[in-house]
Amino acid sequence: MINAMNSHQLLKTIQDSFIGRDTIYPLVDGSSGPRRYLDSAASTLMMQPAFEVAKEFLTHYASTHSELHYAAKGASQAYQWAHQRVLAFVGADTNIYSAYFTGSGATAGFNRIAAELSEKRPERDVVLVSEMEHHSNDLPHRKHSGETVHLPLMGEGPSYGGLDLEVVTEFVRKYGERINYLAITGASNVTGAITPIHELAQLAHSVGAYLVIDASQMIAHAPISMQDKSLDDADIDILVFSGHKIYAPGSPGVVIAKSSLLADMPPAELGGGMVDDVYLDKFIPSSVLPDREEAGTPNIVGAITLGAVLDILLRIGMDKIREKEIRLIDLAWEKLSAIDEVNLYGPAPDVLPRTGTISFNIQGFDHGLTAATLNDYHNIQVRNGCFCAHPYVREMLKPELWALDIDPDAPNSEADVERKRGMVRASLGIYTTEADILALVDAIKDLVARKEEILSLYVPEGSNGYRHREFTPAASAIFNPQRALEHALNPPIKCVA
Ligand SMILES: Cc1ncc(COP(=O)(O)O)c(C=O)c1O
Repeated sequence: MINAMNSHQLLKTIQDSFIGRDTIYPLVDGSSGPRRYLDSAASTLMMQPAFEVAKEFLTHYASTHSELHYAAKGASQAYQWAHQRVLAFVGADTNIYSAYFTGSGATAGFNRIAAELSEKRPERDVVLVSEMEHHSNDLPHRKHSGETVHLPLMGEGPSYGGLDLEVVTEFVRKYGERINYLAITGASNVTGAITPIHELAQLAHSVGAYLVIDASQMIAHAPISMQDKSLDDADIDILVFSGHKIYAPGSPGVVIAKSSLLADMPPAELGGGMVDDVYLDKFIPSSVLPDREEAGTPNIVGAITLGAVLDILLRIGMDKIREKEIRLIDLAWEKLSAIDEVNLYGPAPDVLPRTGTISFNIQGFDHGLTAATLNDYHNIQVRNGCFCAHPYVREMLKPELWALDIDPDAPNSEADVERKRGMVRASLGIYTTEADILALVDAIKDLVARKEEILSLYVPEGSNGYRHREFTPAASAIFNPQRALEHALNPPIKCVA
């Protein structure tokens, strides 16, 4: 059935398939209704057909690393299939690249890569990162490299963002062969600003540096290829992303790297599965990739779910998904920029290509208040704060914070300052519709119109949050694992007529 669909029909079917897209939640006015999930940059929802593949695999579940009973053989082959799906998704030539899965998302991948690359080339003591990196693609390099240099971005104030290749060129010339690698995000998790990754690869290679791309925010939104045959020497050396950002919650992080690069790096993690032999006084790491990089029993179910998602997305075509998202970004930007009380951040989409991640504030509302009221009054789920990209967020907020006499860079600020040092982020997924965007716009207009009422009804909580004085449904009333467990153990008796 699905095979007979064209990519447009498949996109529509898949959009409607997500688990939890329409979950019903209570609202302040006593009503309840389906949520609108605009928090995909943090984590995406689960794609049902991929989940079904994983569920079927569970009926054959066994661990990998054995070929001698049916289930173990099946698991080993399915796990290999997941690696192949990853490589195919980013157009990686399997003669050149290997993929391996890491523990906890992209963060595990960056920590591994930072440790391994610094050990591989200690004489190259500099790493270049950009000022818009997520902490996961910044702090591991600070820990392992001699010096981590932050590349400034384009523009200034609220529209700060995006890499200027001329500026990168200057820094590459300045640090030259001291640079071990550049570690740069493919798209910002705050503003969606997209990086020209292959041009960056050329610049890195001009001084013998590697290019490490953080694809966490790009992978689900735009086509990515490890190689760009139209440019010389523009291959990406290493690409890292999290499976939970691409419709496979619970799946592992992914590293795709040139096999030649991995082959002569000592594996960062040791244990079962990655060695050929172990003696009391020595061990011999496997030379087989990805085994060498995957110590321990892998997250087979998560990897298979992710493999299935990537296969489906390839069938739809990432270019189609990008086209659809661009329409929604343009709509959102146009409507939100027409509201006087809304401040939008990052370069406008007609200035720099962006993914569907839009950060904003409503004047007179702390970021936590906006997020809480969008949830409580309008069933719209967004994220707020600094999104683990503190330097970037604070740079964009500087003019606003100075106007309030707040030092954006003051460490350990008071809670009432922290409540102002942040933004609200609405982020899209493949399931996001025009109706979701219009609902967000209407909701913001409603909040603006009811500002005084809202301010009187909410009290601040902690450094990031706000709580309605009377409407405070407990999280356990929404989902309670113990209750779900009792329900699973005592399913309602089915009446047979
Ligand atoms: C751009 C970017 N890089 C890295 C990460 C870290 O991903 P994870 O928490 O899955 O390791 C995130 C997560 O938000 C991100 O947005």
